[in-house]
Amino acid sequence: MVEFRTMIRVTLFGSRNKSSSFEPARDIPSLEGKVVLITGAAGDLGRQTAIELARHGRPARIYIADLPLDEGGRKNLVDRITREVNETPAVGSEKLKHVASTEIRFLDLDLASFESVRKCAAEFVAREERLDILVLNAGIIRVATGVTKEGFEIHFGINYLGHALLSRLLAPMMIRTSEQHPTADVRVVVVSSEGHSMAPPGGIQFEKLKTDCADMSYTLRYGQSKLALIGFTRELARSYPQLRAVVVHPGRILTGMAVSLRKESLLVRLTAPIAPLVCASVSDGVKNHLWAATSLDAESGRYYEPVGVAGKETAIARDEDLSRRLWEWTENEFKGFDILGN
Ligand SMILES: NC(=O)c1ccc[n+]([C@@H]2O[C@H](COP(=O)([O-])OP(=O)(O)OC[C@H]3O[C@@H](n4cnc5c(N)ncnc54)[C@H](OP(=O)(O)O)[C@@H]3O)[C@@H](O)[C@H]2O)c1
Repeated sequence: MVEFRTMIRVTLFGSRNKSSSFEPARDIPSLEGKVVLITGAAGDLGRQTAIELARHGRPARIYIADLPLDEGGRKNLVDRITREVNETPAVGSEKLKHVASTEIRFLDLDLASFESVRKCAAEFVAREERLDILVLNAGIIRVATGVTKEGFEIHFGINYLGHALLSRLLAPMMIRTSEQHPTADVRVVVVSSEGHSMAPPGGIQFEKLKTDCADMSYTLRYGQSKLALIGFTRELARSYPQLRAVVVHPGRILTGMAVSLRKESLLVRLTAPIAPLVCASVSDGVKNHLWAATSLDAESGRYYEPVGVAGKETAIARDEDLSRRLWEWTENEFKGFDILGN
């Protein structure tokens, strides 16, 4: 019943996907020579982000990090993205006339395992000298109750903690990039959700994070993880003033996430016929990612809902005591697991 009420509240009163004035073909600048890493890039929004950045900005390389795939699976995904990039030539792309096409590379990443996150970061650092845009996009919603490899609640562990670790491990390279290339405008784009408003009263249940939180509904568990990402972005911006860290809600979009919600929820199955009325297309949703990755208007540490509109986060998402506590808690956990390597 609580789940039903919460879903209805977010669906009816959450922010609508307004049409945005952001046009990828016109507004994505040349990203010549830059390197991008996107998590969850086998999924709909991550993949489309890679396609649009490659099509309209042509960075040197885009790394698409997702759950491990065999050789065939990796090749299919890389080929699919490369094909889609080349199918539609960039409109009005004078800026790209002399810029080589983007190379797409796959990286194994299981955000539910610190060791996998560490290996992914190490592989990236071994292969690259710079990182200009890190997009923390992967996510899960309403999966069976469970914990990550290290024993953290599964939504919190994948949506928040794995991403916090990845950015912590890649921060030195991003800072180096900003020092060596002063015009690089190095960014972290964090994909949260309007669903952060479904977090439990008080925000983050620190004492329960190392359990499966079976007594909490999935809306609370998902909301908690997405709330954490907003506080994390504020603290990231504070700790690394050299970087621009921006957090967005992409709007409601029928993606792989809707498929897993439908599988698990009778309510979502019943409302499926009207879902397209309240959902945006992937190409509209992804404008949030692209705007945050490239717009000069995106302010570090801030949360934006579709597209580029600040200030719609809940009061608890603005709570600086909570975000500082989360930052310290996170740092302590990483130290406890001896995963930072220094
Ligand atoms: N769609 C929406 O309406 C909506 C609304 C608000 C926020 N968002 C956010 O948007 C982001 C992108 O989601 P989407 O809508 O594009 O959904 P999606 O198509 O399901 O993409 C999510 C991606 O994350 C990957 N992933 C899942 N668990 C992972 C793990 N342990 N390690 C690494 N990658 C993992 C998924 O891989 P598999 O497919 O193999 O599991 C998938 O490729 C998410 O953070 C989501 O919370 C979406």
